[in-house]
Amino acid sequence: MSPQKRINTFRVRVNLVLCTIIFCNACAYLFVNMRAFQLLAIGSAVLPAVALAPKQLISAPRRSTAVPNPSGEVALFSTGQYSFESHESSTTWNLIDLKSGKISELTDDSNVSEIIWLGSSNSELLYINSTNADIPGGVELWISDTADFNNFRYKAASLSASLSGLKTATTKTGDINFLVYGQSYGNGTAYNDKLAVKPLSTARIYDSIYPRHWDTWLTTTFNAVFSGTLELKKSGQWATSRYVSRGALKNLVSTVKNLESPYPPYGDSTDYDISPDGKWVAFKSKAPELPRANNTASYIYFVPHDGSKNPEAINGPDSPGTPEGVKGDSSGPVFSPDSEQLAYFQMTDIAYESDRRTLYVYTIDSKETIPALAKNWDRSPSAAKWTTDGKGLILNTEDRARNRLFILPSDAGDDFVPRNFTDSGSVSSYYNLPNGEILVSGSAMWTSRIIYTATPEKGVTNVVFSANEVDPALNGMSSADVDEFYYEGNWTEIHSWIIYPQNFDTSKTYPLLFYIHGGPQGSWADSWSTRWNYKVWADQGYVVVAPNPTGSTGFGDKLTDMITNNWGSYPYDDLVKCWEYVRDNFDFIDTDNGVAAGASYGGFMINWIQGNPLGRKFKALVSHDGTFVADAKISTEELWFIEHDFNGTFWGDRDNYRRWDPSAPEHILQMDTPQLIIHSDLDFRLPISEGLSLFNVLQMRGVPSRLLNFPDENHWVTNQENSLVWHQQVLGWINKYSGIGASNSNAVSLDETIVPVVDYNP
Ligand SMILES: *[C@@H]1O[C@H](CO)[C@@H](O)[C@H](O)[C@H]1NC(C)=O
Ligand SMILES: *[C@@H]1O[C@H](CO)[C@@H](O)[C@H](O)[C@H]1NC(C)=O
Ligand SMILES: *[C@@H]1O[C@H](CO)[C@@H](O)[C@H](O)[C@H]1NC(C)=O
Ligand SMILES: *[C@@H]1O[C@H](CO)[C@@H](O)[C@H](O)[C@H]1NC(C)=O
Ligand SMILES: *[C@@H]1O[C@H](CO)[C@@H](O)[C@H](O)[C@H]1NC(C)=O
Ligand SMILES: *[C@@H]1O[C@H](CO)[C@@H](O)[C@H](O)[C@H]1NC(C)=O
Ligand SMILES: *[C@@H]1O[C@H](CO)[C@@H](O)[C@H](O)[C@H]1NC(C)=O
Repeated sequence: MSPQKRINTFRVRVNLVLCTIIFCNACAYLFVNMRAFQLLAIGSAVLPAVALAPKQLISAPRRSTAVPNPSGEVALFSTGQYSFESHESSTTWNLIDLKSGKISELTDDSNVSEIIWLGSSNSELLYINSTNADIPGGVELWISDTADFNNFRYKAASLSASLSGLKTATTKTGDINFLVYGQSYGNGTAYNDKLAVKPLSTARIYDSIYPRHWDTWLTTTFNAVFSGTLELKKSGQWATSRYVSRGALKNLVSTVKNLESPYPPYGDSTDYDISPDGKWVAFKSKAPELPRANNTASYIYFVPHDGSKNPEAINGPDSPGTPEGVKGDSSGPVFSPDSEQLAYFQMTDIAYESDRRTLYVYTIDSKETIPALAKNWDRSPSAAKWTTDGKGLILNTEDRARNRLFILPSDAGDDFVPRNFTDSGSVSSYYNLPNGEILVSGSAMWTSRIIYTATPEKGVTNVVFSANEVDPALNGMSSADVDEFYYEGNWTEIHSWIIYPQNFDTSKTYPLLFYIHGGPQGSWADSWSTRWNYKVWADQGYVVVAPNPTGSTGFGDKLTDMITNNWGSYPYDDLVKCWEYVRDNFDFIDTDNGVAAGASYGGFMINWIQGNPLGRKFKALVSHDGTFVADAKISTEELWFIEHDFNGTFWGDRDNYRRWDPSAPEHILQMDTPQLIIHSDLDFRLPISEGLSLFNVLQMRGVPSRLLNFPDENHWVTNQENSLVWHQQVLGWINKYSGIGASNSNAVSLDETIVPVVDYNP
């Protein structure tokens, strides 16, 4: 099929599929239920389509995923929102009726930090109150009811530290066994930052590698999972069990030296699970017997909920069921509905963070592991959930730039090919409903939250909610804003997204915005983000082209793995070929006035492009947290990453580290395109010195350049006021050089002063 034909087919497919599945089933229904949404979006139906401006993006509602009650009638979610008037965030907790789509508010009390359904009740709730009447820095467990949240509530337990991540199970005797996590001392006591006695000196002292990670210096405290029990008292109220002393919880992790769970910085309550009968707990920890910096090995630990035995690894080096040769990162433990089996993922390679995740099933009684379900399936799923009957598993998997749900039997053989039953967008969470359907929460490039039901047999059955139908900031957005194409890359066919601006008209031309993703093992996927949101860039007046070149995930192992030891070769050529394809095939894209931007590996690639011929094709560049000096790579803490990606040690294989060095003189001499450099102080993996080095070079070479720094941000800029400045600088920079600024007075401009610019140029 010719590429041009392909894009047309794709356009029809994307639009038709989305319209029929997501819209037509739902639009009549959403229309009927518009009244229910009026509280959330007054008058949204009459507003004309508006462009997504940075302020609107940042202050639009951010909804959590929806968790159904056991009967599947209603689901619970939270909505966070930032106000640029009060400069404060607020959170409301909502219920959504899964039949009518009607949304009601449960509470907006700022002391409520987390709510879950209590055991098998359809209306009772268990929540974390982030204050504690008796213990400064502690929290409390409270109970309430959907019928009248603010009046039915009462305190059930006092916890002595800042704990979160509630998970519960109802035991045979009707008690509620729960789990929470937080920081722990080595002796197992929960760490309370408000009450901790701190040394007078701020010095830090280390005897092992990995002194810091992501944005945090390691200390002697670490994450641990704690267990507790609530029982129904004669008074009819739930309270902490009499078996544990007041407020005391069992620390399930600290009894084995060097265990930590959830594992920072990304770890959360998906790192642990409680069996449905309340008896067992499984959690993930990094390998305690290995240094933390130069491998990714981690194991799943198994421990009784009452802490009566120490945790034991089910897939560690000494575990009886450990599959041969499998040594990498473990993740996502989930118990089967009968509490007899545990499914989890593990990577094979001991130092490759983007190795394929394979699904294993461990049987508790026999301590046996069924190795590698659908082992030959060329995908790397990130989450598993058992079907209600325990005979199958539903997996959430990155698949061709979406996150789709797939189903497979729990005894699938090596060659079994799981079948997807969702298509567009990206699934974030999913739950079984008693009627056999699955409640899915996800997002897409054109909607920040979509909640729908699906079944493995019928696919999507009903859309219950979509943010673009109710949020004024997203008004007018639809699947028609997005398209995709494939082109011939360096060695294989490469996928790319294409995102159109507001009021897109094929008879006009729009400057190219070339978007380069990070990882490098990652992808541009059909999902919503408040950082690098496709639409907010497009709506300035660009056509965004977001390719998934060599190194990208979701297209099979080969595309991902080919970037190893090849950071600047195949992917660079894939990008050159993408740029040429866009120039030759899309009349509505103006490549003469194009700009390019990227973060992380994408920032490295921008820095590499700046010193190579492709850099001359752009009017401006933006690199966010990119590396620059090849020899500085050793200043990261993730040594497993550099040793994998550059295929050797810093001393034994230095040539690999230097092969694609943007700071090499022959590349510096080519640098000539105006560049904005963004680098924040708390990005410990790619230290600030990388951004400073490049800024020094560009300034001394007379290349128009600007440095944007955030002292309190890590790899991501998340604070809303910082995010506003980030967007103003990034969009203002590209608009200045692409000509958009001159042609559109509504476009973001550098002239607006949010923060003064320091300029001592003579
Ligand atoms: C939260 O709880 C504290 C007491 O711990 C109280 O002083 C404060 O008013 C509460 N906030 C709200 C919004 O009720
Ligand atoms: C949270 O706890 C504080 C202290 O016990 C109490 O005053 C407040 O009413 C509680 N708020 C909620 C929403 O539970
Ligand atoms: C555990 O260690 C911390 C910090 O040294 C200390 O404050 C706490 O009292 C200890 N807990 C127990 C039970 O000894
Ligand atoms: C990892 O680091 C330790 C020292 O902390 C060293 O003994 C070991 O050889 C290293 N392993 C690899 C694979 O580099
Ligand atoms: C499964 O994914 C394919 C694309 O790979 C898509 O065409 C198909 O519609 C999806 N199936 C369902 C049921 O959504
Ligand atoms: C692919 O990229 C490599 C490395 O940059 C280059 O040597 C080769 O010529 C490219 N192949 C094609 C077909 O362009
Ligand atoms: C990595 O190094 C090994 C040993 O030198 C070599 O055999 C292998 O081909 C290299 N892999 C890549 C992707 O360069």
